[in-house]
Amino acid sequence: MTRSKWTAALSLCLAFLSIWLPVQSHLYNNLYAGDKLIRLSPKNDYEVIALKHMCQQFKVDLWQPSSVSYITEGTIVDVHITRNSSQALLAYLQHTSLQYKVLISNLQNLIEKQIGVQSLRNRRAVLGYNYEAYHSLEEIQSWMYYMNKTHSDLISMFSIGKSYEGRPLYVLKLGKRIRPYKRAVWIDCGIHAREWIGPAFCQWFVKEAVDTYHSDPGMRRILNRLYFYVMPVFNVDGYHFSWTKDRFWRKTRSKNSRFHCYGADANRNWKVNWCDEGASLHPCDDTYCGLYPESEPEVKAAANFLRKRKKQIKAYLSFHAYAQLLLYPYSYKYAAIPNFECVESAAYNAIVALQSAYGVRYNYGPASSILYVSSGSSMDWAYKNGIPYAYAFELRDTGHFGFLLPESLIKPTCVETMLAVKNITMHILKKCH
Ligand SMILES: *[C@@H]1O[C@H](CO)[C@@H](O)[C@H](O)[C@H]1NC(C)=O
Ligand SMILES: *[C@@H]1O[C@H](CO)[C@@H](O)[C@H](O)[C@H]1NC(C)=O
Ligand SMILES: *[C@@H]1O[C@H](CO)[C@@H](O)[C@H](O)[C@H]1NC(C)=O
Ligand SMILES: [Zn+2]
Repeated sequence: MTRSKWTAALSLCLAFLSIWLPVQSHLYNNLYAGDKLIRLSPKNDYEVIALKHMCQQFKVDLWQPSSVSYITEGTIVDVHITRNSSQALLAYLQHTSLQYKVLISNLQNLIEKQIGVQSLRNRRAVLGYNYEAYHSLEEIQSWMYYMNKTHSDLISMFSIGKSYEGRPLYVLKLGKRIRPYKRAVWIDCGIHAREWIGPAFCQWFVKEAVDTYHSDPGMRRILNRLYFYVMPVFNVDGYHFSWTKDRFWRKTRSKNSRFHCYGADANRNWKVNWCDEGASLHPCDDTYCGLYPESEPEVKAAANFLRKRKKQIKAYLSFHAYAQLLLYPYSYKYAAIPNFECVESAAYNAIVALQSAYGVRYNYGPASSILYVSSGSSMDWAYKNGIPYAYAFELRDTGHFGFLLPESLIKPTCVETMLAVKNITMHILKKCH
């Protein structure tokens, strides 16, 4: 080998090394080292009380369900316990003979595995936008600008308002501008900050729509006949916070003057049986309903936008994680909606279509009976405001990774969900009797 060839080989080697060397030693300042995710399921009243007591006493971060008040006999309860409380907490479990299973033994390791891939991926950005990676808010917003610029025949981008911390609330309007008025579908992702698969799906949806417009007659028909309003990150402040400070942040980031806790649950802040059953009045709770309906600027902006277009918008789709469910109204009460049959059969077809991709099973039904009663949700609000098809998806998985769904599962999750969304959309193009 000549000297110059050696130099070339060496610099290649160094480039390779620099890819593998970690940029920073620990994400989130190693905040989650030794934290665990455990699963419990109380078998009787005594265990329900003991478990609720544990949650309050140790101030745990509940992954599932989202509030202690939802825990009843047989509920599957996924609890994030911190390294500091773990010893006392596990002793408590032993003392009360509550059975538990460790789902994730070290959350920090899993977080670093999940975003470790990320730093590699960033260096490959020249190859184009990577839809099989999670993206920060800044990256998603740059992507939106880029899509708006490069697909002006199908996409336009605008802001519907500002978040609590002053960030623009961007929406992409997607569809062929054949005529100014067409019926429309609203899609939002990331109402809850830590559910990262949501925004990943919204981006996938937009990409898939523009990429297959010319090749897929079904997609062409959909985009010719409908507009989509896609809001990839609803809770922008919370999402940003989940990237920079607390990976498991759920709420918005508004300040409460009387308490030290931040934020409200953007899915309990809507003006539909606001702060009734299944929502908390306490600002420190994860399901805090806010000071008043639409107190959160993000909710107010979206509600104003939807109110103005409620005649045009025929379907409302909201993306959450995790549980593998397709939910429809009501959330706030046990009762069948007037157009139950249409909504239910569209949901059934959608989950069959979803399952056809990889065999992944979804449960479906009214949120109140499938999940729990919750008031002030966006889905109920959309339905009560005249949008006949209102759904909330709880995407993958069922707790193996929970909110830390690896990047390698973004593609299959989005591919199958895409089938469900296309199927629902086709359904609403038909009249429902
Ligand atoms: C955990 O305990 C250590 C020392 O015992 C303390 O420095 C740290 O602040 C605690 N962390 C939390 C999140 O409470
Ligand atoms: C989207 O692109 C159009 C031009 O194609 C431009 O006028 C508009 O300002 C862009 N939207 C945003 C939010 O930048
Ligand atoms: C929707 O799903 C149903 C049931 O899986 C299927 O029969 C139908 O062909 C699907 N329609 C579209 C447009 O994907
Ligand atoms: Zn959610």
